[in-house]
Amino acid sequence: MPNLWGGRFEDEMAAEVAEFNASIGFDKRLYGCDIDGSAAHAAMLRETGIITNDEGDKIIGALEEIRRDIADGKITFNVRQEDIHMAVEEMLTARIGDAGKKLHTARSRNDQVQVDVRLFFMRETEAILEELIQLEAVLLEHADDNREELIVGFTHMQHAQPVTVGFHLMAYFQMFRRDIERLIDVRRRADKNPLGSGALSGTTYPIDRDMTTRLLGFGAPTENAMDAVSDRDYIIEFLAAAAISMMHVSRIAEEFVYWNSSEFKFIAIDDAFCTGSSMMPQKRNPDVAELLRGKTGRVYGDLVALLTVMKGTPLSFNKDFQEDKEPMFDAIDTWKTSIKILREMIRKTRYRRDEIDRHLAVGFMGATDFADALTRQGIPFRESHNIVGRVVKLCESRGCDFKDLKKDDLLAIDPRFERLTIPDLSMRGIVNARKSFGGTAPSEVERQIKTGQTWLEGIKRAQ
Ligand code: ARG
Repeated sequence: MPNLWGGRFEDEMAAEVAEFNASIGFDKRLYGCDIDGSAAHAAMLRETGIITNDEGDKIIGALEEIRRDIADGKITFNVRQEDIHMAVEEMLTARIGDAGKKLHTARSRNDQVQVDVRLFFMRETEAILEELIQLEAVLLEHADDNREELIVGFTHMQHAQPVTVGFHLMAYFQMFRRDIERLIDVRRRADKNPLGSGALSGTTYPIDRDMTTRLLGFGAPTENAMDAVSDRDYIIEFLAAAAISMMHVSRIAEEFVYWNSSEFKFIAIDDAFCTGSSMMPQKRNPDVAELLRGKTGRVYGDLVALLTVMKGTPLSFNKDFQEDKEPMFDAIDTWKTSIKILREMIRKTRYRRDEIDRHLAVGFMGATDFADALTRQGIPFRESHNIVGRVVKLCESRGCDFKDLKKDDLLAIDPRFERLTIPDLSMRGIVNARKSFGGTAPSEVERQIKTGQTWLEGIKRAQ
């Protein structure tokens, strides 16, 4: 069968060129959105009298049959159809004859493809938002359960100051909160209806764009037809948001990998997220966390791919844009699944108290509080810092802790130790004292959790 656009052509495309040119292999995923867009277009053509009532009814009825047949797996697509838009139109005409040929009145594939993609985008990103919201709920719950549990806080991968597990989890919560806000923002800008833009300059028919906007559930019609058929910003913004969020996923995954390592043993990742080694019988590898870290790479690739596709393309439509779909599909699938898997992995993770305590005992994590205590007793902080630095050096040379030092040892470092008292440097005391806004004290983490809950409730209500 010749192509739908075949009027001015004499030769058919060679098979491998047709294969190269076609997007049906991947854009068939848009069939539901394509049919929704076409049904709304047909309803509008009927309402405005551009086609007759009878033609409109026939088109809409047949589109629904086609939808069912595709869903039931009764349809095989072929590359000669080129893309999902022409495949559906071809099936429509095969079923209802001339009325089917009228569907494309006042429409181009250039606005049609954008309707499909935007509808798909709005639906899929809503599902991702839902996954992110559920992840946040798990983080809040987990943080609440572990508000008091101590763990090592690092800087430069060196023991720094003790924190609580709840506090650490709430840091992740903030990261995903920003991801949610970013995604909501992207969706707000994407929520526009391009239908009625035509090939690039609008149409001479008396179409009603407000009607199709309403029928398709978009916020407003796009303002400028040329921009509407050329714009892929919202996909790029989405890919940027996905890349940032996957970077967060990857950082958490990395912490899980090393927390779970034989060296740290802070956590036990649940068996359901680990695999064995084909050779080493003792192994229990954190494959899923590693894969989450690895999946981040492909989403970065998706972003860079589309930025590069769009760069330097003139207005308006160019076939280059067909390359927008695969990166978008890939990022949608990868981001959505990663969030779901990460959530379950976090939910089932167990903290290993004894092992964490063993780590808390080393690294002089009370040093800052030691210096702060001297400062409170009148020694300028820079001097306190230096004094405690020397105390640490002495302890290190003896392989002991602060509490093992004798009064004479301290006096040898600074004679002012005659009148200075050394505070409670227990890890618990240190954590409890960090009550500053945003600090790690359990009371402050409780406040952070409450604020987080209120925010999350607001987001859920707005969805
Ligand atoms: N398959 C095309 C795409 O994915 C649809 C739009 C084609 N428009 C055109 N004028 N060739 O973007």
